[in-house]
Amino acid sequence: MVILKQESDSIQVLTETMNITYLPFDIQDYDEAAQFWRVTPFIGLSSADTREAIDKFLRRNPGCSFVARVEQRLVGTILMGHDGRRGYMYHLAVAESYRGMGIAAELVSRGLIALRAEGIEKCHLFVYSDNLNAQSFYAHEGWQIRNDLEIMSINL
Ligand SMILES: CC(C)(COP(=O)(O)OP(=O)(O)OC[C@H]1O[C@@H](n2cnc3c(N)ncnc32)[C@H](O)[C@@H]1OP(=O)(O)O)[C@@H](O)C(=O)NCCC(=O)NCCS
Repeated sequence: MVILKQESDSIQVLTETMNITYLPFDIQDYDEAAQFWRVTPFIGLSSADTREAIDKFLRRNPGCSFVARVEQRLVGTILMGHDGRRGYMYHLAVAESYRGMGIAAELVSRGLIALRAEGIEKCHLFVYSDNLNAQSFYAHEGWQIRNDLEIMSINL
């Protein structure tokens, strides 16, 4: 894994280019989103992704996570939250046939704006080391790889 961050003052909002609707992620979106994540490469799923866990995450971080829809079809997701200190981003994904339209950038922008409104000044994300496509996207969007950090985890 590689950790990237973005300073909140470099947020950019892109113009919507087609009939894409961006909505706060509601737990009603869960089944569709979970199916989407299951078939999307590089979206790591765990016990933190059950309906109950996502419901808890959304309640702890209201208005920070979003879905993108085109004519009712879910085509993009982002989960964003914070611990009162730093923001964290998970499960950014856009359906393959809708990539390159600015959807991911818009989802990230909306999430970062929501974090900033909560007084959060920096956001981190986790990206698999072999997910070069996403790393390239994040770098293009201004995120920086942290070469001074490694991730360490423990199961509770
Ligand atoms: C990474 C991902 C979310 C990008 O989604 P997307 O909707 O295609 O990205 P956007 O259209 O919003 O791109 C915004 C900008 O980034 C650029 N960009 C997109 N992908 C890029 C890439 N791989 N490398 C460099 N730039 C990229 C676009 O050209 C666009 O540039 P512009 O603003 O100058 O026109 C998408 O490829 C995806 O869902 N990948 C699979 C899931 C995944 O890996 N998620 C990350 C988990 S950590």
